[in-house]
Amino acid sequence: MERFDKWIRRALAVCCEVEGVKPCAAEFAFVSDERMHELNLETRGVDRTTDVLSYPAVSYPKGKTAKDCPKRLSRAYDPEYGMPNLGDVFFSMDRACSQAQEYGHSITREVVFLAVHASLHLLGYDHMEEDERTQMRAMEEKVMEKLGIGRDPMDEHLFLRACEALDNAYVPYSDYRVGACILDAEGREFTGCNIENASYGATICAERTAVACAVSQGSRKFKAIAIAGEKGAAWPCGICRQVLNEFSDNMRVIVGQKGGAFDVVLLSELLPHSFGPEELQEEKA
Ligand code: THU
Repeated sequence: MERFDKWIRRALAVCCEVEGVKPCAAEFAFVSDERMHELNLETRGVDRTTDVLSYPAVSYPKGKTAKDCPKRLSRAYDPEYGMPNLGDVFFSMDRACSQAQEYGHSITREVVFLAVHASLHLLGYDHMEEDERTQMRAMEEKVMEKLGIGRDPMDEHLFLRACEALDNAYVPYSDYRVGACILDAEGREFTGCNIENASYGATICAERTAVACAVSQGSRKFKAIAIAGEKGAAWPCGICRQVLNEFSDNMRVIVGQKGGAFDVVLLSELLPHSFGPEELQEEKA
């Protein structure tokens, strides 16, 4: 879950900024669906699980939000954080994944949206009544736009093509099927699957099969690759990360399990401080 930390921190920071209050802290935790159900029942009397629960530490008068209550905010000052602590938030990862799949966007985007929604609750927003709901929705949109976590319709398409490509995997040794679909700068798509060999080291991963297919047909720059595993999310191995890096200016990497949700990261997150073709060019110069 650490990979969501920086996004959650940014979500809260941008909510505070858009609300017009100084930076505030809050505690965020991922819990199981079972625990969410318990919490929902214990604290709200609702006998089912839910995606996100927020418990504000500050109470706001009706119709008011944090910007209207500077005194209440300063009373919530927490020396541990050196700023006001707005309260606690609990997420269900299971629900975040199923909702991401339902909406056809990444798990990160869903987690960020839930973090924004919860942070706004901690800042005094609600959606019980029509006008409150409209106001909260407008804030959510504003914050999501500022966060810039776009919803690229190609992501789902590439992921579904990678899931299809997985059916051709040749895996008599590992029985671990992987499919990939790569998108080049011209908008062309190429698929690949893992191809194993009795001499194990001769095995080629799905990502590199797709790269070989694309490069051998003239592609030289990639914008995105989707990778689907049959038994779990197949994050690319080290060799594949390096091979992808050869043909990319920081491509999107879409990863997931066939039949499940996918997530999207940038190649630079998977391969920081990479050694690329530019380094060799510089050396020659
Ligand atoms: N595999 C891939 O296709 N891509 C990766 O990035 C990781 C591993 C394949 C290679 C092999 O056929 C099987 O998964 C088990 O290692």
